[in-house]
Amino acid sequence: MEKAQAKQEIERLSNEINRHNDLYYLENKSEISDYDFDMLLEKLISLEQQFPEFAFDYSPTKRVGGDITKKMESVVHRFPMLSLSNTYSEEEIIDWENRLKKLSDGKLEYVCELKYDGVAIGIQYENGTLKQAITRGDGTQGENVTTNVRTIKTIPLKLKGDFPADFEIRGEIFFPLKNFQKLNEQRLDIGEAEFANPRNTASGTLKIQDSKVVAERGLDCYLYGVYGYDLELDGHYESVLKAKDWGFKVPDHQKNFIKKTDSIDGIMEFIHYWDKHRSELPFEIDGIVVKVNNYEQQQELGFTAKSPRWAIAYKFKAERVETILESVQYQVGRTGAVTPVANLKAVQLGGTTVKRASLHNSDQIEKLDLHLLDSVYVEKGGEIIPKIVGVNLDKRTSQNEKIQFIENCPECGSELVRREGEVQHYCHNENLCPPQIKGRIEHFIGRKAMNIDGLGAETVDVLVEKELIHSYADLYDLTFDQIVNLDRMGDKSADNLLKGLELSKQVPFERVLFSLGIRFVGETVAKKLAKGFKSIDAIQNAKFDELINVDEIGEKIAISVQNFFLEERNVEVINRLKAVGLQFQIEEKVGVTEKLKGMNFVVSGVFTSFSRDEIKEVIELNGGKNVSSISSKTNYVVAGENMGPAKLKKASDLGIIILSEDEFIQLLNG
Ligand code: IVH
Repeated sequence: MEKAQAKQEIERLSNEINRHNDLYYLENKSEISDYDFDMLLEKLISLEQQFPEFAFDYSPTKRVGGDITKKMESVVHRFPMLSLSNTYSEEEIIDWENRLKKLSDGKLEYVCELKYDGVAIGIQYENGTLKQAITRGDGTQGENVTTNVRTIKTIPLKLKGDFPADFEIRGEIFFPLKNFQKLNEQRLDIGEAEFANPRNTASGTLKIQDSKVVAERGLDCYLYGVYGYDLELDGHYESVLKAKDWGFKVPDHQKNFIKKTDSIDGIMEFIHYWDKHRSELPFEIDGIVVKVNNYEQQQELGFTAKSPRWAIAYKFKAERVETILESVQYQVGRTGAVTPVANLKAVQLGGTTVKRASLHNSDQIEKLDLHLLDSVYVEKGGEIIPKIVGVNLDKRTSQNEKIQFIENCPECGSELVRREGEVQHYCHNENLCPPQIKGRIEHFIGRKAMNIDGLGAETVDVLVEKELIHSYADLYDLTFDQIVNLDRMGDKSADNLLKGLELSKQVPFERVLFSLGIRFVGETVAKKLAKGFKSIDAIQNAKFDELINVDEIGEKIAISVQNFFLEERNVEVINRLKAVGLQFQIEEKVGVTEKLKGMNFVVSGVFTSFSRDEIKEVIELNGGKNVSSISSKTNYVVAGENMGPAKLKKASDLGIIILSEDEFIQLLNG
């Protein structure tokens, strides 16, 4: 492509992709399919690789991440980043409002907003392009986190409309609760300890050197202030509305996230509403903020040394109750990580009965200096799991024994180990410790792993307890007779289970690798390893340096992978899985087999063991072709329940073979 044409195409694609991105993330709409979006992005990535000189600062490829910031430089704020004066008392809000009325001429209007519980950020735009994003730091200078902030999809890289040429916008970057939970699930998957709270995790995420990791975590941002010279804006509320036109995510007044009012009653109504409803929000807030709307009046009121007089934060009292710590129980996860859990005397908190609280690790017990039968304070400050925040020492007696973290595994008795630099204690008896055996098998059969239909955690428990299985490799030796008589099994369930196992032999290598449950090898790492080495044998034989040469594979993962293969038992299990036919190498999409080569399939209806997409994938992996409508060229129709009678008739009129789900599996297995 000619240079001039490439430049034009890069600009066109950047604008087009940014537009689709904004539509999707800000307006919940999409004009094109995910596939078409990915194609546009791929085209742009490839053009930018050929002509890097034409890549824009606002290129949507920056959203994907990948740039590494070795050291985040310190930058002085153009406008100091002040904080708000806080109060927990409604009286003080009333006093504040009365004071303001006395101090200012004219009528006052207020804007009530949510106080997002995240990390403050100042973002500079020049001529409509995002130039720099700085954390609050000490208020005078903060850290340059621009590369990471560019990955946050709701922060525009290029503005629309009549934006000022040079301005700064400030807001709060936060972790949506859904994404925070997802991240913690992924952490559990790789045997890492969960993160304790969304705010600290958002803050830590912004400082990560690899922007790709930041992009994957799914941070979000609400904006709450526009700063600059000669902005031609009269008030805060108007500037928030303007910012929406420029492409920012701003609070929605229809959801009561922001409200303009001219009375203390209006302010109180807002406070009471959110005190009651804050647990329904998909993100955490720790209070509400009230600001004088008019900029001129704001200027007249001015600042104290630390905060503006024209704004105040009302912080919600975290709901806190006192109850008795009855005991500490220790749970052993699939990787052997031991998590202490507090058993509490049942108590009502925030509308639910709380009986347990997570204690995370031994450091936490030590920090709280917990003693048995202590009277403890439990809080649920909008967070998901209640936590113990302190002890009522007045009620402690000499009989309250200090809690000593256990030294032996509560399940198998073997000695626990806490490695240097780690916060968690581990039981290393992985082959005999029952919850680790069960946990590994449950992980193996999970939806994101081998996705074995017809087999759930309860059945795994029974199978392990009856000693029918000791490892996930044993699953493939199960017979119909062994399982049909188990509790709550019957002919149909037993059949489904065996079918699920059979179909799992088609699961691609990267997922098989993830299913093995190697510590620190989550979905993404498994994909990287599979792509980098192509087969399990190559991974097993890889030298340490070869492992860390793969993108995103660090020393910790490399050591864990090597340790896994040093265990003879693991190698044995893999050999058995190889023998039953699981995928242990990357099959280029040409096909796992060519069994269905040259055959056209129509898949229709609802299936019991698999989804329609899974059946289609298996067809393609085995060389067959999926076609959308029945014609004389169709060889087979795979018919599930509810397949339309017209389709069935057409197929039989044309003499096409109609297969049930079972018959399809038989065809596949020859
Ligand atoms: S206005 C001059 N509005 O609360 C003060 N701050 O101490 C400008 N925060 O870390 C701040 N939600 O990041 C403002 N709606 C909101 C806010 C908000 C959260 C944070 C802010 C800062 C702290 C203020």
